[in-house]
Parts: sequence; C-alpha cells; structure tokens
Amino acid sequence: SFSEAEVQSARGAWEKIYVDAEDNGTAVLIRMFTEHPDTKSYFTHFKGMDNAEEMKQSDQVRGHGKRVFTAINDMVQHLDNTEAFLGILNPLGQKHATQLKIDPKNFRIICDIILQLMEEKFGGDCKASFEKVTNEICTHLTNIYK
Ligand code: HEM
Repeated sequence: SFSEAEVQSARGAWEKIYVDAEDNGTAVLIRMFTEHPDTKSYFTHFKGMDNAEEMKQSDQVRGHGKRVFTAINDMVQHLDNTEAFLGILNPLGQKHATQLKIDPKNFRIICDIILQLMEEKFGGDCKASFEKVTNEICTHLTNIYK
C-alpha cells in the first residue's frame, strides 16, 4: 500500500503525462510495437502497423493508447484505497490473461516504457515517483496468471 506522501507524488507525476493522454499513450504503444515487434502479434486486427509513422496516424492505435492511459488514470485515483485499486486492476488482468492471452512478461515491458517516457519528458524525479505504481500494477497483473 501507499503512504500519503507516495500517493501525492505519484499523482503529481502521473498528471504530467496524463495531460496529453492520447499522444503519450500512443507514443508508449508505438515504442512497444517498434522495440518489441512480437507485441504486434496481439493486434493483428489493427491496420497500419508497418511503421511508426503509420501507427501515429492510426485511429486504432490512438484510441487504444487513450484507453490504456484512462485505465491507469482510474487506478491512480484509487492508490489510497487498495480494494478500489484492485477492483479496477483485477478484472482488467482477468481479461488480459484469459481472453486476450497476453504473455505477462509484456506488462513489465509496457510499464518500463511509461517510466522511460516520464524520465525523458519530465525528469528522473517524475519517473522515481511513479515506479511504485508500475511495480504494483505489474505484480498484480502477473499474479493473476498464477
Ligand atoms: C485491451 C489496458 C497491457 C494487449 C485493453 C483494454 C484496456 C487495456 C483498458 C480495453 C479492455 C476492454 O475493452 O475491456 C491495459 C493496461 C496495460 C495493458 C493498463 C498495462 C499497464 C497490455 C499489453 C498488451 C495488451 C502489455 C500486449 C502486448 C491488449 C489487447 C487488447 C487490450 C490485444 C484488446 C485490444 C482491442 O481489440 O481493441 N488493455 N493493457 N495490453 N490490451 Fe491491454
């Protein structure tokens, strides 16, 4: 669980990147798809996935980037309430495990890209303030597979 101070600094860090949720969510996905091309295998129904320029223009990629960031934002609003936090994370994890069959190693990959983008855009303190959140998300998502 998170201390009051951790909740405040994590929220402050997240607000910086969430202001541009669609652009930043899309940037995270494009980096995942280009640096880890095997992740594209889950999105064969998305068109225009051949290169970063195409992906940037894709309504499907942009919509999904926004969706992923909105889900994280919902979790960030409930860091001070473990039950509510898990109430958002668990059903999402169930869907990724059973229906989408996502290899759980990919959760660490996408979370590390989010942290990387935070550091590039807003500096090391921003990244450091959000690391515990991504750790919690990855741990819980991965535990659902056990
Ligand atoms: C769908 C969030 C990681 C692949 C979704 C949805 C959300 C979401 C909110 C929509 C669920 C719905 O429609 O009910 C997240 C979050 C992640 C994460 C918060 C981690 C922080 C991943 C990873 C992959 C992945 C690592 C694969 C590499 C998918 C796929 C869909 C999906 C294939 C369905 C897309 C579609 O058909 O529109 N995700 N996701 N997700 N996610 Fe994730």
